[in-house]
Amino acid sequence: MDNLETNKFAGALFGTLLFVVAMNVIASGLFAPKKPAVPGYDLPAPAEGAEAASSAPAAPAEPLPVLLAKADSAKGQTAAKKCASCHSFEKGGPNKVGPDLYGVVGRPVASHEGFNYSAALKAKGGNWTYEDLDAFITSPKKAVPGTAMAFAGIGQAQERADLLAYLRTLSDNPEPLPAAQ
Ligand code: HEC
Repeated sequence: MDNLETNKFAGALFGTLLFVVAMNVIASGLFAPKKPAVPGYDLPAPAEGAEAASSAPAAPAEPLPVLLAKADSAKGQTAAKKCASCHSFEKGGPNKVGPDLYGVVGRPVASHEGFNYSAALKAKGGNWTYEDLDAFITSPKKAVPGTAMAFAGIGQAQERADLLAYLRTLSDNPEPLPAAQ
């Protein structure tokens, strides 16, 4: 075979191979998959408002007066067992870890005789309204920061309303229920 022809052929072949290899190197550089630091899908971050809504209590839809209107004081008496380790409920009952709760609805805050209230609760002032009691029982520490009442709170709105309906009965002269608008 003609030597020059062989060289041309070999040159073309070699050139082509070189081209393929070069393309491969360039392409893998261009299209290299980016490995994520953590395997898995990137989930879209939830909007701040959406998160706030989902962390809110399950069903805040009904206002307190409506819940109180259909509250069951017998159920509330059962719920009050959660309080009984620290509170008595009888008229003239003893102060325990917390003050006696007979007649607490409508009573001036931090006013039970013989009980040494925290500075935080003394500073609150006013009378215990249904709204105030509801907020306090939802989360004592949030409603009155610094309170000495070491109780996590009751998350269920209807359970709180039942409990308030029961507390209401512990009175010689029960506070009228708030009117539903
Ligand atoms: C671990 C003990 C403990 C439990 C359980 C507890 N409390 Fe209390 N509670 C206290 C203490 C202590 C205070 C006084 C708080 C202060 O001085 O800051 C208090 C204060 C209160 C007051 C304010 C009374 C006033 O005279 O101003 C109310 C109302 C009250 N508790 C309701 C409840 C209810 C309702 C429950 C049950 C759902 C409950 N507590 C469960 C310890 C407790």
